[in-house]
Amino acid sequence: MADLRFYTSIDSTNKEARRLLAQGPVLDGLTLLTYEQTEGRGQYARTWTAEPGANLTISIIHTPPDLPVKDLPLINMKVTLGIIHALHTLEPDLTLRIKWPNDIYVRDKKLCGILIENALSEGRVQDMIIGIGMNVNETSFPTDLPNPVSLIQCTGKKYDLPALAELIRDGVMLMLTSGPTGWKSAYDNLLYGLGTVCHFESDGLAFHGMITGVDLEGRMLVKMEDGEVKAYGSHEVRMIMG
Ligand code: BTN
Repeated sequence: MADLRFYTSIDSTNKEARRLLAQGPVLDGLTLLTYEQTEGRGQYARTWTAEPGANLTISIIHTPPDLPVKDLPLINMKVTLGIIHALHTLEPDLTLRIKWPNDIYVRDKKLCGILIENALSEGRVQDMIIGIGMNVNETSFPTDLPNPVSLIQCTGKKYDLPALAELIRDGVMLMLTSGPTGWKSAYDNLLYGLGTVCHFESDGLAFHGMITGVDLEGRMLVKMEDGEVKAYGSHEVRMIMG
């Protein structure tokens, strides 16, 4: 299996991954783990903060041999599913859900966020940096974080971070290199809010509808009150949490 490279403190494992890739070829699946990030990055250009030494902050480098850019949404879905499968081998009783597009939730709280940064060239994906931030051994969070939860809060157990990093890396790489048939319906079945009426905001307008799945372009499908099913890209809609 691919290497795990450990850092005590670094600006961002995603940034370090990009620097390594700029220096030359990198082994597929190489994973960078740090105990502390000083400039951790989150989705939508936000920052990602995590208590040093308590949480998982890793980047998995994937260098697919021939991946068309149009297949990226499927790959992003597989990454999330790979993390969930890996976590379930460790904690089978944990009720994990995919909060579309890139979060993993336990009930109504966020356990894990994913930031995937790709390099593209001539319609192909050159490399993917799969950044994963998971709340693991942290027991109290800053009050400005909306709804965090950690593994230790869910199970009462403390986790070894390098071992967890290897487990997650192996789960993701297995899903990416030989995803089982039926993975897409497994993904849909894990969607947070699937089949229930949820509240959303898009273009400043609030509305509600039922999540029915995610299409092959990675758009969330929402069935409106009049029965019409609309597809939303990740930058087009925001779920309003109750
Ligand atoms: C999110 O906003 O939910 C995504 C968070 C992703 C954070 C991880 S931590 C490891 C990797 N390095 C970063 O700078 N960000 C990602």
